[in-house]
Amino acid sequence: MGTPKLHIRPGNPDFLDLDWDRPIDDWDHERLVTIPTGIHRHPVQFVAYTEGLYAIKELPRDLAYHEFETLRRLSTRIRPVARPVGVVDRHWLDGSIEGAGAVITRYVDHAFPYRELVQGSGFGARRNQMLDAFAGLLVQLHLTGCFWGDCSLSNVLYRYDANQIEAIMIDAETSRLYETMTAGQRREDIEIMIMNVAGGMADIAASQGTEVDDADLNLGEDVAERYAALWTELQHDIVIGPDERYRIGERIGRLNDLGFDAEDVDLTPDPSGGDRVVVKIAVGGRNFHSNRLRELTRIEASENQARQILSDLQYHEARLGSTSATGKAIAAIRWRVDVFEPLMLRLAETREGEADLVQAYCDFLHHRFILARRQERDVPNDEAFQSWIDHGHPGYEVED
Ligand SMILES: Nc1ncnc2c1ncn2[C@@H]1O[C@H](COP(=O)(O)OP(=O)(O)OP(=O)(O)O)[C@@H](O)[C@H]1O
Ligand SMILES: [Mg+2]
Repeated sequence: MGTPKLHIRPGNPDFLDLDWDRPIDDWDHERLVTIPTGIHRHPVQFVAYTEGLYAIKELPRDLAYHEFETLRRLSTRIRPVARPVGVVDRHWLDGSIEGAGAVITRYVDHAFPYRELVQGSGFGARRNQMLDAFAGLLVQLHLTGCFWGDCSLSNVLYRYDANQIEAIMIDAETSRLYETMTAGQRREDIEIMIMNVAGGMADIAASQGTEVDDADLNLGEDVAERYAALWTELQHDIVIGPDERYRIGERIGRLNDLGFDAEDVDLTPDPSGGDRVVVKIAVGGRNFHSNRLRELTRIEASENQARQILSDLQYHEARLGSTSATGKAIAAIRWRVDVFEPLMLRLAETREGEADLVQAYCDFLHHRFILARRQERDVPNDEAFQSWIDHGHPGYEVED
Protein backbone atom coordinates (compact mmCIF):
# COMPACT_ATOMS: atom_id res chain seq x y z
CA MET A 1 0.00 0.00 0.00
CA GLY A 2 1.08 3.60 -0.32
CA THR A 3 1.79 6.09 -3.04
CA PRO A 4 1.75 4.79 -6.60
CA LYS A 5 4.39 5.57 -9.21
CA LEU A 6 2.92 8.37 -11.29
CA HIS A 7 4.19 9.53 -14.63
CA ILE A 8 2.38 12.76 -15.52
CA ARG A 9 2.83 15.05 -18.49
CA PRO A 10 3.49 18.75 -17.77
CA GLY A 11 0.60 21.19 -17.41
CA ASN A 12 -1.56 18.77 -15.42
CA PRO A 13 -2.25 18.19 -11.71
CA ASP A 14 -0.19 15.58 -9.83
CA PHE A 15 -3.31 13.51 -8.95
CA LEU A 16 -1.73 12.69 -5.59
CA ASP A 17 -4.85 13.76 -3.69
CA LEU A 18 -6.81 10.82 -5.15
CA ASP A 19 -7.39 7.69 -3.14
CA TRP A 20 -4.99 5.35 -4.97
CA ASP A 21 -5.09 2.84 -2.09
CA ARG A 22 -8.57 1.81 -3.19
CA PRO A 23 -9.99 0.63 -6.54
CA ILE A 24 -11.40 3.59 -8.49
CA ASP A 25 -14.91 2.10 -8.44
CA ASP A 26 -14.86 2.38 -4.62
CA TRP A 27 -13.88 6.04 -4.65
CA ASP A 28 -16.04 8.57 -2.94
CA HIS A 29 -14.10 11.73 -3.67
CA GLU A 30 -15.20 15.33 -4.09
CA ARG A 31 -13.44 15.48 -7.46
CA LEU A 32 -15.54 12.67 -8.98
CA VAL A 33 -17.96 13.65 -11.73
CA THR A 34 -20.64 11.34 -13.11
CA ILE A 35 -20.72 11.27 -16.90
CA PRO A 36 -22.56 8.84 -19.20
CA THR A 37 -20.11 6.57 -21.06
CA GLY A 38 -20.02 3.96 -23.79
CA ILE A 39 -19.87 0.27 -22.89
CA HIS A 40 -16.55 -0.62 -21.29
CA ARG A 41 -14.75 -3.59 -19.75
CA HIS A 42 -12.47 -1.65 -17.41
CA PRO A 43 -13.45 0.61 -14.51
CA VAL A 44 -13.54 4.28 -15.59
CA GLN A 45 -13.97 7.42 -13.48
CA PHE A 46 -13.93 11.13 -14.31
CA VAL A 47 -12.28 13.70 -12.04
CA ALA A 48 -12.44 17.51 -12.13
CA TYR A 49 -9.49 19.80 -11.38
CA THR A 50 -9.01 23.50 -12.08
CA GLU A 51 -6.84 22.39 -15.03
CA GLY A 52 -9.84 20.54 -16.52
CA LEU A 53 -11.68 17.26 -16.53
CA TYR A 54 -9.85 13.91 -16.77
CA ALA A 55 -10.80 10.29 -17.45
CA ILE A 56 -9.07 7.59 -15.39
CA LYS A 57 -9.18 3.97 -16.52
CA GLU A 58 -7.88 1.05 -14.47
CA LEU A 59 -6.26 -1.90 -16.19
CA PRO A 60 -3.39 -4.36 -15.72
CA ARG A 61 0.04 -2.70 -15.45
CA ASP A 62 1.55 -3.62 -18.84
CA LEU A 63 -1.64 -2.68 -20.65
CA ALA A 64 -1.70 0.69 -18.90
CA TYR A 65 1.88 1.47 -19.94
CA HIS A 66 1.16 0.23 -23.46
CA GLU A 67 -1.99 2.33 -23.84
CA PHE A 68 -0.33 5.46 -22.44
CA GLU A 69 2.70 5.10 -24.70
CA THR A 70 0.58 4.37 -27.79
CA LEU A 71 -1.66 7.36 -27.20
CA ARG A 72 1.39 9.54 -26.53
CA ARG A 73 3.05 8.59 -29.81
CA LEU A 74 -0.18 8.64 -31.77
CA SER A 75 -1.22 12.08 -30.52
CA THR A 76 2.01 13.53 -31.93
CA ARG A 77 0.97 12.16 -35.35
CA ILE A 78 -2.75 12.92 -35.62
CA ARG A 79 -5.25 15.22 -33.91
CA PRO A 80 -8.51 13.35 -33.22
CA VAL A 81 -7.30 11.06 -30.46
CA ALA A 82 -7.71 11.25 -26.67
CA ARG A 83 -4.79 13.21 -25.13
CA PRO A 84 -2.82 11.02 -22.72
CA VAL A 85 -1.96 12.74 -19.47
CA GLY A 86 -0.40 10.12 -17.26
CA VAL A 87 0.08 6.54 -16.23
CA VAL A 88 -0.29 5.20 -12.70
CA ASP A 89 1.52 2.16 -11.34
CA ARG A 90 0.23 0.62 -8.10
CA HIS A 91 3.56 -1.13 -7.67
CA TRP A 92 2.44 -3.05 -4.58
CA LEU A 93 -0.10 -5.04 -6.63
CA ASP A 94 0.55 -8.02 -8.90
CA GLY A 95 0.84 -6.58 -12.43
CA SER A 96 -1.88 -8.77 -13.91
CA ILE A 97 -4.55 -7.43 -11.53
CA GLU A 98 -7.04 -5.08 -13.17
CA GLY A 99 -6.15 -2.13 -10.91
CA ALA A 100 -2.35 -2.54 -10.99
CA GLY A 101 -2.19 0.25 -13.54
CA ALA A 102 -4.29 3.20 -14.66
CA VAL A 103 -4.23 5.54 -17.63
CA ILE A 104 -5.28 9.16 -17.29
CA THR A 105 -6.49 11.01 -20.37
CA ARG A 106 -7.81 14.50 -20.86
CA TYR A 107 -11.60 14.36 -21.06
CA VAL A 108 -12.62 15.06 -24.66
CA ASP A 109 -14.87 18.10 -24.30
CA HIS A 110 -18.19 18.42 -26.09
CA ALA A 111 -17.96 14.86 -27.44
CA PHE A 112 -20.18 11.78 -27.03
CA PRO A 113 -19.80 8.10 -27.93
CA TYR A 114 -21.42 7.02 -31.23
CA ARG A 115 -23.14 4.32 -29.26
CA GLU A 116 -25.07 6.84 -27.19
CA LEU A 117 -26.44 8.45 -30.34
CA VAL A 118 -27.34 5.16 -32.01
CA GLN A 119 -29.25 3.91 -28.99
CA GLY A 120 -30.90 7.29 -28.50
CA SER A 121 -32.27 9.44 -31.28
CA GLY A 122 -30.21 7.79 -34.07
CA PHE A 123 -28.25 9.59 -36.80
CA GLY A 124 -31.27 11.23 -38.44
CA ALA A 125 -30.33 13.67 -41.19
CA ARG A 126 -26.69 13.53 -40.11
CA ARG A 127 -26.24 9.88 -41.06
CA ASN A 128 -23.89 10.58 -43.98
CA GLN A 129 -21.81 13.04 -42.02
CA MET A 130 -21.56 10.76 -39.01
CA LEU A 131 -20.54 7.71 -41.03
CA ASP A 132 -18.09 9.66 -43.19
CA ALA A 133 -16.45 11.03 -40.05
CA PHE A 134 -16.19 7.51 -38.57
CA ALA A 135 -14.60 6.21 -41.78
CA GLY A 136 -12.35 9.29 -42.02
CA LEU A 137 -10.95 8.57 -38.56
CA LEU A 138 -9.95 5.05 -39.60
CA VAL A 139 -8.32 6.42 -42.75
CA GLN A 140 -6.26 8.87 -40.70
CA LEU A 141 -5.20 6.14 -38.29
CA HIS A 142 -4.18 3.80 -41.08
CA LEU A 143 -2.31 6.51 -42.97
CA THR A 144 -0.25 7.17 -39.88
CA GLY A 145 0.44 3.46 -39.33
CA CYS A 146 -1.95 2.74 -36.47
CA PHE A 147 -3.69 -0.62 -36.33
CA TRP A 148 -6.55 0.01 -33.89
CA GLY A 149 -7.71 -3.51 -33.19
CA ASP A 150 -10.89 -2.44 -31.36
CA CYS A 151 -12.77 0.19 -33.34
CA SER A 152 -16.34 0.19 -32.03
CA LEU A 153 -19.37 2.41 -31.42
CA SER A 154 -18.21 2.92 -27.81
CA ASN A 155 -14.60 3.69 -28.65
CA VAL A 156 -15.33 6.46 -31.15
CA LEU A 157 -16.63 9.81 -29.93
CA TYR A 158 -18.18 12.48 -32.15
CA ARG A 159 -18.42 16.22 -31.83
CA TYR A 160 -19.47 19.14 -34.00
CA ASP A 161 -16.73 20.52 -36.18
CA ALA A 162 -18.18 23.64 -37.86
CA ASN A 163 -20.54 22.28 -40.54
CA GLN A 164 -19.13 18.75 -40.21
CA ILE A 165 -18.61 16.07 -37.59
CA GLU A 166 -15.25 15.12 -36.08
CA ALA A 167 -14.78 11.52 -34.93
CA ILE A 168 -12.27 10.97 -32.11
CA MET A 169 -10.48 7.81 -31.03
CA ILE A 170 -10.33 6.87 -27.37
CA ASP A 171 -9.11 3.54 -26.07
CA ALA A 172 -5.82 2.44 -27.64
CA GLU A 173 -5.32 -0.60 -25.43
CA THR A 174 -5.24 -2.98 -28.39
CA SER A 175 -3.50 -0.63 -30.85
CA ARG A 176 -0.12 -1.09 -32.47
CA LEU A 177 1.92 1.51 -34.29
CA TYR A 178 3.86 0.71 -37.45
CA GLU A 179 5.95 2.67 -39.89
CA THR A 180 3.36 1.83 -42.56
CA MET A 181 0.50 -0.64 -42.64
CA THR A 182 0.00 -3.45 -45.12
CA ALA A 183 -3.26 -3.90 -47.02
CA GLY A 184 -3.80 -7.09 -44.98
CA GLN A 185 -3.47 -5.25 -41.67
CA ARG A 186 -5.87 -2.57 -42.82
CA ARG A 187 -8.37 -5.21 -43.95
CA GLU A 188 -8.14 -6.98 -40.61
CA ASP A 189 -8.76 -3.75 -38.72
CA ILE A 190 -11.80 -2.98 -40.88
CA GLU A 191 -13.16 -6.50 -40.29
CA ILE A 192 -12.83 -6.00 -36.53
CA MET A 193 -14.72 -2.70 -36.87
CA ILE A 194 -17.52 -4.35 -38.91
CA MET A 195 -17.87 -7.10 -36.32
CA ASN A 196 -17.80 -4.70 -33.35
CA VAL A 197 -20.34 -2.38 -34.94
CA ALA A 198 -22.71 -5.24 -35.83
CA GLY A 199 -22.31 -6.62 -32.30
CA GLY A 200 -23.03 -3.17 -30.86
CA MET A 201 -26.17 -2.79 -33.00
CA ALA A 202 -27.46 -6.23 -32.05
CA ASP A 203 -26.76 -5.46 -28.42
CA ILE A 204 -28.63 -2.16 -28.52
CA ALA A 205 -31.60 -3.82 -30.22
CA ALA A 206 -31.64 -6.59 -27.59
CA SER A 207 -31.48 -4.07 -24.74
CA GLN A 208 -34.38 -2.14 -26.26
CA GLY A 209 -36.35 -5.29 -27.10
CA THR A 210 -36.52 -4.38 -30.80
CA GLU A 211 -35.66 -6.21 -34.02
CA VAL A 212 -32.43 -5.20 -35.73
CA ASP A 213 -33.14 -4.26 -39.30
CA ASP A 214 -30.68 -5.04 -42.09
CA ALA A 215 -29.59 -1.44 -42.57
CA ASP A 216 -28.50 -1.24 -38.98
CA LEU A 217 -26.71 -4.57 -38.93
CA ASN A 218 -24.81 -3.47 -42.04
CA LEU A 219 -23.76 -0.17 -40.57
CA GLY A 220 -20.13 -1.31 -40.29
CA GLU A 221 -20.12 -2.34 -43.96
CA ASP A 222 -21.46 1.08 -44.87
CA VAL A 223 -18.55 2.65 -42.95
CA ALA A 224 -16.13 0.24 -44.69
CA GLU A 225 -17.37 1.38 -48.13
CA ARG A 226 -16.90 5.01 -47.23
CA TYR A 227 -13.44 4.16 -45.89
CA ALA A 228 -12.49 2.43 -49.16
CA ALA A 229 -13.72 5.36 -51.26
CA LEU A 230 -11.73 7.92 -49.25
CA TRP A 231 -8.65 5.69 -49.18
CA THR A 232 -8.71 5.35 -52.97
CA GLU A 233 -9.24 9.06 -53.41
CA LEU A 234 -6.18 9.78 -51.25
CA GLN A 235 -3.90 7.09 -52.54
CA HIS A 236 -4.33 7.00 -56.29
CA ASP A 237 -1.36 8.06 -58.39
CA ILE A 238 -1.63 10.33 -61.40
CA VAL A 239 0.28 10.08 -64.64
CA ILE A 240 1.14 13.42 -66.25
CA GLY A 241 2.59 14.58 -69.56
CA PRO A 242 5.58 16.96 -69.86
CA ASP A 243 3.35 20.04 -70.05
CA GLU A 244 0.94 18.99 -67.31
CA ARG A 245 2.87 19.88 -64.16
CA TYR A 246 -0.07 22.04 -63.03
CA ARG A 247 -1.88 18.76 -62.27
CA ILE A 248 0.48 18.17 -59.31
CA GLY A 249 -0.68 21.45 -57.75
CA GLU A 250 -4.26 20.56 -58.60
CA ARG A 251 -3.94 17.19 -56.87
CA ILE A 252 -2.33 18.72 -53.76
CA GLY A 253 -5.15 21.29 -53.71
CA ARG A 254 -7.70 18.46 -53.79
CA LEU A 255 -5.96 16.70 -50.86
CA ASN A 256 -5.91 19.98 -48.92
CA ASP A 257 -9.61 20.49 -49.66
CA LEU A 258 -10.23 17.14 -48.01
CA GLY A 259 -8.18 18.49 -45.07
CA PHE A 260 -5.11 16.30 -45.65
CA ASP A 261 -1.53 17.51 -45.80
CA ALA A 262 0.60 16.46 -48.76
CA GLU A 263 3.98 15.38 -47.37
CA ASP A 264 6.25 14.18 -50.17
CA VAL A 265 5.87 14.13 -53.91
CA ASP A 266 7.64 11.29 -55.76
CA LEU A 267 8.06 11.53 -59.52
CA THR A 268 9.11 8.46 -61.50
CA PRO A 269 9.20 7.84 -65.27
CA ASP A 270 6.10 6.05 -66.52
CA PRO A 271 7.12 2.36 -66.87
CA SER A 272 5.08 2.09 -70.04
CA GLY A 273 7.62 4.41 -71.72
CA GLY A 274 7.35 7.83 -73.33
CA ASP A 275 7.90 11.12 -71.54
CA ARG A 276 5.11 10.76 -69.04
CA VAL A 277 5.73 10.78 -65.28
CA VAL A 278 3.98 8.93 -62.45
CA VAL A 279 3.24 11.22 -59.52
CA LYS A 280 2.87 9.65 -56.10
CA ILE A 281 1.93 11.92 -53.23
CA ALA A 282 2.48 10.80 -49.62
CA VAL A 283 -0.53 11.97 -47.63
CA GLY A 284 -0.03 13.20 -44.05
CA GLY A 285 -2.54 13.97 -41.30
CA ARG A 286 -5.93 15.59 -41.70
CA ASN A 287 -4.67 18.80 -40.09
CA PHE A 288 -4.08 21.10 -43.02
CA HIS A 289 -6.29 23.95 -41.84
CA SER A 290 -5.82 23.43 -38.09
CA ASN A 291 -2.03 23.55 -38.54
CA ARG A 292 -2.28 26.66 -40.68
CA LEU A 293 -4.52 28.43 -38.14
CA ARG A 294 -2.17 27.50 -35.28
CA GLU A 295 0.88 28.75 -37.20
CA LEU A 296 -0.77 32.07 -37.97
CA THR A 297 -2.63 32.79 -34.77
CA ARG A 298 -1.86 30.12 -32.11
CA ILE A 299 -5.59 29.31 -32.01
CA GLU A 300 -6.46 25.62 -31.46
CA ALA A 301 -9.45 24.38 -33.43
CA SER A 302 -10.49 21.17 -35.12
CA GLU A 303 -10.01 20.81 -38.86
CA ASN A 304 -13.27 22.24 -40.20
CA GLN A 305 -13.60 24.84 -37.49
CA ALA A 306 -10.11 25.99 -38.48
CA ARG A 307 -11.15 26.10 -42.14
CA GLN A 308 -14.07 28.42 -41.31
CA ILE A 309 -12.05 30.60 -38.96
CA LEU A 310 -9.28 30.97 -41.56
CA SER A 311 -11.82 32.27 -44.04
CA ASP A 312 -12.89 34.84 -41.44
CA LEU A 313 -9.24 35.87 -41.12
CA GLN A 314 -8.97 36.16 -44.90
CA TYR A 315 -12.16 38.23 -45.00
CA HIS A 316 -10.60 40.71 -42.56
CA GLU A 317 -7.23 40.62 -44.36
CA ALA A 318 -8.99 41.49 -47.58
CA ARG A 319 -10.54 44.51 -45.88
CA LEU A 320 -7.13 45.60 -44.59
CA GLY A 321 -5.64 45.02 -48.04
CA SER A 322 -2.36 43.47 -46.79
CA THR A 323 -0.57 41.42 -49.41
CA SER A 324 3.06 41.02 -48.27
CA ALA A 325 4.05 38.09 -46.03
CA THR A 326 4.86 40.43 -43.12
CA GLY A 327 1.67 42.38 -43.69
CA LYS A 328 -0.29 39.14 -43.54
CA ALA A 329 1.42 37.97 -40.35
CA ILE A 330 0.66 41.32 -38.68
CA ALA A 331 -2.92 41.24 -39.97
CA ALA A 332 -3.35 37.75 -38.44
CA ILE A 333 -2.27 38.99 -35.02
CA ARG A 334 -4.40 42.13 -35.30
CA TRP A 335 -7.39 40.03 -36.30
CA ARG A 336 -6.86 37.79 -33.28
CA VAL A 337 -6.61 40.72 -30.84
CA ASP A 338 -9.18 43.05 -32.41
CA VAL A 339 -11.76 40.63 -33.78
CA PHE A 340 -11.47 37.04 -32.57
CA GLU A 341 -10.76 37.51 -28.86
CA PRO A 342 -13.39 40.21 -28.19
CA LEU A 343 -15.97 38.05 -29.94
CA MET A 344 -14.95 34.97 -27.93
CA LEU A 345 -15.45 37.05 -24.77
CA ARG A 346 -18.92 38.08 -25.88
CA LEU A 347 -19.70 34.46 -26.71
CA ALA A 348 -18.52 33.34 -23.26
CA GLU A 349 -20.89 35.88 -21.73
CA THR A 350 -23.89 34.80 -23.77
CA ARG A 351 -23.44 31.01 -23.91
CA GLU A 352 -23.66 28.68 -20.92
CA GLY A 353 -20.41 27.55 -19.35
CA GLU A 354 -20.20 24.18 -21.05
CA ALA A 355 -20.74 25.39 -24.63
CA ASP A 356 -17.98 24.83 -27.19
CA LEU A 357 -16.99 28.46 -27.83
CA VAL A 358 -14.97 27.80 -30.97
CA GLN A 359 -17.97 25.97 -32.42
CA ALA A 360 -20.19 28.90 -31.35
CA TYR A 361 -17.80 31.24 -33.20
CA CYS A 362 -18.22 29.12 -36.34
CA ASP A 363 -22.01 29.15 -35.92
CA PHE A 364 -21.86 32.92 -35.71
CA LEU A 365 -19.68 33.14 -38.85
CA HIS A 366 -22.17 31.00 -40.70
CA HIS A 367 -25.04 33.22 -39.59
CA ARG A 368 -23.12 36.31 -40.75
CA PHE A 369 -22.59 34.64 -44.12
CA ILE A 370 -26.32 33.80 -44.47
CA LEU A 371 -27.27 37.39 -43.61
CA ALA A 372 -24.76 38.79 -46.09
CA ARG A 373 -25.99 36.50 -48.85
CA ARG A 374 -29.60 37.36 -48.16
CA GLN A 375 -28.95 41.10 -47.98
CA GLU A 376 -26.27 41.08 -50.71
CA ARG A 377 -23.87 43.17 -48.61
CA ASP A 378 -21.12 42.64 -45.98
CA VAL A 379 -22.78 42.67 -42.56
CA PRO A 380 -20.59 44.17 -39.80
CA ASN A 381 -19.79 41.89 -36.86
CA ASP A 382 -21.77 43.87 -34.26
CA GLU A 383 -24.91 43.81 -36.35
CA ALA A 384 -24.48 40.13 -37.26
CA PHE A 385 -23.82 39.20 -33.63
CA GLN A 386 -26.99 40.93 -32.42
CA SER A 387 -28.98 39.17 -35.12
CA TRP A 388 -27.42 35.80 -34.17
CA ILE A 389 -28.46 36.34 -30.52
CA ASP A 390 -31.96 37.50 -31.55
CA HIS A 391 -32.40 34.34 -33.59
CA GLY A 392 -31.44 32.11 -30.64
CA HIS A 393 -27.81 31.49 -31.74
CA PRO A 394 -28.56 29.09 -34.62
CA GLY A 395 -26.02 26.53 -35.84
CA TYR A 396 -25.51 25.10 -39.31
CA GLU A 397 -28.38 23.53 -41.19
CA VAL A 398 -27.67 19.88 -41.96
CA GLU A 399 -26.70 19.41 -45.58
CA ASP A 400 -27.24 15.93 -46.85
N1 LIG B 1 -10.72 10.87 -22.58
C1 LIG B 1 -12.03 10.60 -22.57
N2 LIG B 1 -12.92 11.57 -22.88
C2 LIG B 1 -14.26 11.33 -22.88
N3 LIG B 1 -14.79 10.13 -22.58
C3 LIG B 1 -13.97 9.13 -22.26
C4 LIG B 1 -12.55 9.30 -22.24
N4 LIG B 1 -11.99 8.12 -21.90
C5 LIG B 1 -13.00 7.26 -21.70
N5 LIG B 1 -14.20 7.86 -21.92
C6 LIG B 1 -15.54 7.24 -21.79
O1 LIG B 1 -15.38 6.06 -21.03
C7 LIG B 1 -15.77 4.92 -21.79
C8 LIG B 1 -14.82 3.77 -21.52
O2 LIG B 1 -13.49 4.10 -21.83
P1 LIG B 1 -12.58 3.08 -22.64
O3 LIG B 1 -13.20 2.78 -23.94
O4 LIG B 1 -11.20 3.62 -22.66
O5 LIG B 1 -12.69 1.79 -21.67
P2 LIG B 1 -12.46 0.24 -22.00
O6 LIG B 1 -12.89 -0.48 -20.80
O7 LIG B 1 -11.05 0.05 -22.42
O8 LIG B 1 -13.38 -0.08 -23.21
P3 LIG B 1 -13.40 -1.47 -24.08
O9 LIG B 1 -14.44 -2.30 -23.45
O10 LIG B 1 -13.80 -0.94 -25.43
O11 LIG B 1 -12.01 -2.02 -24.04
C9 LIG B 1 -15.78 5.39 -23.24
O12 LIG B 1 -16.72 4.69 -24.01
C10 LIG B 1 -16.14 6.85 -23.12
O13 LIG B 1 -17.54 7.00 -23.03
MG1 LIG C 1 -13.65 1.17 -24.86
